[in-house]
Amino acid sequence: MKFLQNKLFAFAVTFFLLNLSANQICNAQSKLITNIGSRKTTSLNGKWQYIVDPYETGFYDYRYQERKEKDREAYWNSDVPDNKTDRKEHGYADKYSLNVPGDWNSQDAKFLYYEGNVWYKKSFDYKKSASTNHVFLYFGAVNYRADVYLNGHKLGMHKGGFTPFDFEIDDSILKETNNYLVVKVDNKRFKDEVPTLNTDWWNYGGITRDVDIVELPASYITDYFIQLKRPADPVKIPPDNAEVEGWIKVSGASEKQTANIEIPELKIKKSFEVIDGFCKVSFKLPKVQLWSPENPKLYRVIVSTNADKTVEKIGFRTIEVKGKQVLLNGKPIFMRGICVHEEIPQEGRRAYSKQDALQLLGWAKSLSCNMMRLAHYPHDETMTRMADSVGVLIWSEIPVYWTIEFTNNEVLGKAKAQLSEMITRDHNRASIIIWSVGNETPLSQARTDFMHALIDDARQADPTRLVSAALETRTENGKILIDDPLGQFTDLVSVNEYLGWYGGLPNNCRTARWESKYDKPLFFSETGAEAKGGFHADSLTRWSEEYQEWYYKEQVEMMKRMPDNYVGMSPWILSDFRSPKRNNPLYQEGWNNKGLIDHDGKKKKAFYVLKAYYDSKITTK
Ligand code: GCU
Repeated sequence: MKFLQNKLFAFAVTFFLLNLSANQICNAQSKLITNIGSRKTTSLNGKWQYIVDPYETGFYDYRYQERKEKDREAYWNSDVPDNKTDRKEHGYADKYSLNVPGDWNSQDAKFLYYEGNVWYKKSFDYKKSASTNHVFLYFGAVNYRADVYLNGHKLGMHKGGFTPFDFEIDDSILKETNNYLVVKVDNKRFKDEVPTLNTDWWNYGGITRDVDIVELPASYITDYFIQLKRPADPVKIPPDNAEVEGWIKVSGASEKQTANIEIPELKIKKSFEVIDGFCKVSFKLPKVQLWSPENPKLYRVIVSTNADKTVEKIGFRTIEVKGKQVLLNGKPIFMRGICVHEEIPQEGRRAYSKQDALQLLGWAKSLSCNMMRLAHYPHDETMTRMADSVGVLIWSEIPVYWTIEFTNNEVLGKAKAQLSEMITRDHNRASIIIWSVGNETPLSQARTDFMHALIDDARQADPTRLVSAALETRTENGKILIDDPLGQFTDLVSVNEYLGWYGGLPNNCRTARWESKYDKPLFFSETGAEAKGGFHADSLTRWSEEYQEWYYKEQVEMMKRMPDNYVGMSPWILSDFRSPKRNNPLYQEGWNNKGLIDHDGKKKKAFYVLKAYYDSKITTK
């Protein structure tokens, strides 16, 4: 009997693993540690040597067989010849170095359009602290696929260009000096990836965010979720009985362990019994100052066990939909939003630093925004943490964009993995109010099922936030209908429209009649027109700032006539951004110029039209 049980168990495990895509298995291997900024870390940022390898010579032999781990010609193995006669046809040298974090495209002209493989190599010494028991290698993001090797041993593989991942390093691999860390980065696009082949943004490749060695004790806090519970009746959330509801996960815990949550400013100190590495937490939060864009109050929150401790700043607020309204802390809000890519236009590069985040947030604030849609993928953690601090509501999205392979179960697994990584990293960020499962995806039953599954996952992972996606509209009998089937499952109905840019002229807005099938809040997640910064002509001249200005004037007047479920908009887009799809030789040259701010950081005329509208929507109550 025992034999049969073992066989059945082995079959079940095998079946489960076989049903996980290769990507999921590798991503599943990484146990994502959160709040890295509060851990004992050693930064590996800085100059990394590289080899450009478009034919993947370092990975496949000349018969195109994957090289074995000990293969001397594999690019993860030493590049030092044994002696003067030894043949080595790969090598890392300072003259071929890239900055990490950072995309490669903007660091050297030869990389501008490069899509392929680059091997990164960093040597580091490492002295393990006495209190350290676990060592992880943590990446903020690598676009798109990362194969990670340390001292010739494969640590793992991760796919997904905009979410963090980590691999535990076995003691036997680490050395005190000259550790040989090699990362193979591949940013080629594929039909069965997320995103898929076609996107209207630049395919910036590389180790685009921070890299850290993370040291943890034998028993450590992996992750925790500490946010306000949605009260039964959202309108009645008096600050004196707000309630936190969440959980704490502890790895390597003994059978029974205590976890504590302290919020000194509120004189809160609660303890919870951790069983099998997990405990739910629930407690009242009397007299809490609720977080909002107007008052982005953050509290120092300490999570500890007898062996580990993390500290970070967390804001407390509630967000929900009630009828046709979105309620922040029980009060209806109007979202004065703007879309933004993770890009610094003046330098044509991926944003990744606190300074970059403050630039983009500062521009949005100067536009009188209280909300930003981080398009079309999770932005860097500094962005969401700075949004907490400066007070901007955030829509955060996974790149299920356009023509994803919705009938491919492996692709669903990849999208789920990225959704999970996005929510895990940021589920304690008060600024994030909306998780978006995608953008402008073509209607089909497979697509609606695929995205419905993602919506269910998002709700399961985080019951405190809204879930949405940029949905499709259609025109019938002169009306613009909002009846995308996915709207049944989202909390708010969000649609993109370009009336007067991709169809007709801006004055078409005057006769536009919108009709939504859903009795839910209606949000315009995109609208916009291009203008080459500094090009001036009459308003009928396409590409001029005057045309874009006219477009926004007509759009604003149309928005003023929207039905009462209209809760806001996030026009496309804060600033010009690179796109390989935009090839008008006079007005684009590889840039999508729908920005309200141009490549040089200069505000276009339309900026002021939108700002005036938003200023008129600011209510003091
Ligand atoms: C689409 C899409 C954006 C794109 C924009 C445009 O709505 O969501 O990613 O850049 O339109 O055409 O400029």
